[in-house]
Amino acid sequence: MGITYNVNGKQFHLFNAEISYFLGICPDGEVGQLYFGKKINENQTIAYGQTKGVRPVCCNTKEDENYTKELAMLEYPAFGNGDFRTPAYEIRQSNGSRVTNLIYREHRIYSGKKPIEGLPASYANTDDEATTLEIVCFDEIAKVEVTLFYTIWEKYPVICRHAKINNLADDRVVITKALSMCLDLPDSDYNWLQFEGAWGRERYPVERSLSNGITQIESMRGHSSANYNPFVIVKRKNTDEFMGEAIGINFVYSGNFVAESEADTYGKLRLLMGINPRWFEWPLDKGESFETPEVIISYSKEGLNKLSQSIHAFMNNNLVRGRYKNAPRPILLNNWEATEMNFNEEKILKIAKKGKEAGVELFVLDDGWFGKRNDDYAGLGDWFVNNKKLPDGLKGLSEKVNDLGLDFGVWIEPEMVNEDSDLYRAHPDWVLGAPDRTRTLGRHQMVLDFSKKEVVDNIYEQLYAAFSEANISYIKWDMNRSITECYSLGGDPSKEGMVYHKYIMGVYDLYERLIKAFPDILFESCASGGSRFDAGILYYAPQAWCSDDTDAHERIKIQYGTSYGYPVSMVGAHVSASPNLQTGRNIRIDERAAIACFGTFGYELDLNEISDEEFDMVKEQIKFMKEYRSLFQYGSLYRLESPFKKNISAWMVVSKDKETSIVAIYKNLKTPNVGQIRIRLKGLDPDGVYKINDQKEAYGDILMEGGVQYPEGDNEWFFDDGDFSSRIYVLKKNVTK
Ligand code: DGJ
Repeated sequence: MGITYNVNGKQFHLFNAEISYFLGICPDGEVGQLYFGKKINENQTIAYGQTKGVRPVCCNTKEDENYTKELAMLEYPAFGNGDFRTPAYEIRQSNGSRVTNLIYREHRIYSGKKPIEGLPASYANTDDEATTLEIVCFDEIAKVEVTLFYTIWEKYPVICRHAKINNLADDRVVITKALSMCLDLPDSDYNWLQFEGAWGRERYPVERSLSNGITQIESMRGHSSANYNPFVIVKRKNTDEFMGEAIGINFVYSGNFVAESEADTYGKLRLLMGINPRWFEWPLDKGESFETPEVIISYSKEGLNKLSQSIHAFMNNNLVRGRYKNAPRPILLNNWEATEMNFNEEKILKIAKKGKEAGVELFVLDDGWFGKRNDDYAGLGDWFVNNKKLPDGLKGLSEKVNDLGLDFGVWIEPEMVNEDSDLYRAHPDWVLGAPDRTRTLGRHQMVLDFSKKEVVDNIYEQLYAAFSEANISYIKWDMNRSITECYSLGGDPSKEGMVYHKYIMGVYDLYERLIKAFPDILFESCASGGSRFDAGILYYAPQAWCSDDTDAHERIKIQYGTSYGYPVSMVGAHVSASPNLQTGRNIRIDERAAIACFGTFGYELDLNEISDEEFDMVKEQIKFMKEYRSLFQYGSLYRLESPFKKNISAWMVVSKDKETSIVAIYKNLKTPNVGQIRIRLKGLDPDGVYKINDQKEAYGDILMEGGVQYPEGDNEWFFDDGDFSSRIYVLKKNVTK
């Protein structure tokens, strides 16, 4: 791994064993893209990135009339001087001009990686894991400096990028767009894979072919959203799970974003990602700077499984922090679906006690423990205990839960406030909202103005007091509505375009302060289920509630889609009651567990209310999960059959040493007389003999090349299974040939 600079060719090469990223200084001094893809030889001058026009409409150098920005592949392009595609940034200067021209000035190469102030970012555990290139560019007229950051990693086919804009002019400039990356590719023969949905059906993969023009997804909700996830793959048309080229881009950010590709009429593709420029304006006075969030660019030449595996390992090792990094996650029991807000201490302890009997490790008290919170019209903003429900406070309850032998966790929604709350009565101007206009409500709540430091300080102090009083091991941090009327009351009108970004910086600040104060607490992010499930939040919360939809049949799709861009260790997944709260569907408890085990695993129901037979199954499930959770959460995941394509879906995890593997096959609807299907396993040792569910044995090669048949028995399909059934196979290697 390393970064070299070829002085003669004015060319940088970022490389590791798998990938090469070449960029260079164009004839006019701008920084251009030369090559990104599989590792190639270093000692060559790559020219095709700077194509000359046969008949350029505009040209940029007096020396060479054929050189045109219209065809150039650029690293951080501007609009207004000959490149007519979507720009990566825009800066309005004090004279009203938006024209800029960033020219290479100098560069620095160093081991390791610097943090980005106030923002989540990947980090190197030791300096030899990563090498960073900073390219400093300057606009002589506007007196604006832009530094482009690139980090290449030794172990992963991953490059991280972001940019920093520095105003060296005497007057104020206003950034109206500052994306984090632009990647120009020399052809546009790709498909675009996005992960979309809504509440209850988050992150379904949807593939679009890229015809000429712009393909774009975005969020303007103030959070990354369930509608479009800030993760996108561009892939060759024939790339599948097991073969072919693919590029992934993950935004390490939880607010408004845009991900865009522009296929131009010359056959090139521009890929862009960053903070959404809509409603974004960031003034910079002399000497001030703005740093964008980071994008993780990943690459695979061997299909989508390989791409996802690289992302998973990278996130687990270089994005997740703290005590739970690479650690097996506690099996938890959450009371939300069992009681909603209608509980008292006795009811809670009864649920927790049964959880302990089953083998659960952590009890989580969800919404309703604070202020006047008996329904969703009141209480948010008042983070002190509701003594009517919990007479001995959080302290008393946590001690009683600890006495049962369980850890204790609580739910919070710190960014929100109800009209009926002490906080709102005292500070009506602490809420986002446009002057003199009615606020749009969501779940009867308003959004606190986290762009104001005093608001974040107040919530921090309240939460600090609440968490200090009790023995708290886990926090579920919820966020149940999108931002509307984004306006900070009483602020400087010329700075209103900063509010969306400052809001999310406030959220990150609160996370950071709570993590510092309570380093042993495990944070789980949640936003009406999976509406803020992104790489930015993962830096603070090692896990995130994947969806409020816990119906096993629906969850297969949600977790399958999520796995493209995020590790299993991040996926909050629980077994809930049947019939399911969201779909009304009945699915057996073993089937519910068979999908939840591909996540952090837990229960979301009152275990006192299930049959003895089911309770025995729960005990077995927990035993099984305790034995294999590290494998589920940190093994190499292979998607084998997609629930979006067939009635049968399958995936598997394999331990790093290939000694153990778990394969799960799920069937949706019972269909008579369809025969068997063959599923070819992956990632095993071909010469290893694997014992399957402690019964029969088979070589890894036959399991991978020949595959397994499902269903196995002659009659099984018709009589035993019913709808929504699954098989879990544990494979243990016995001998190597
Ligand atoms: C939405 C979450 O997704 C649920 O799990 C639950 O915590 C509720 N909010 C509580 O209000």
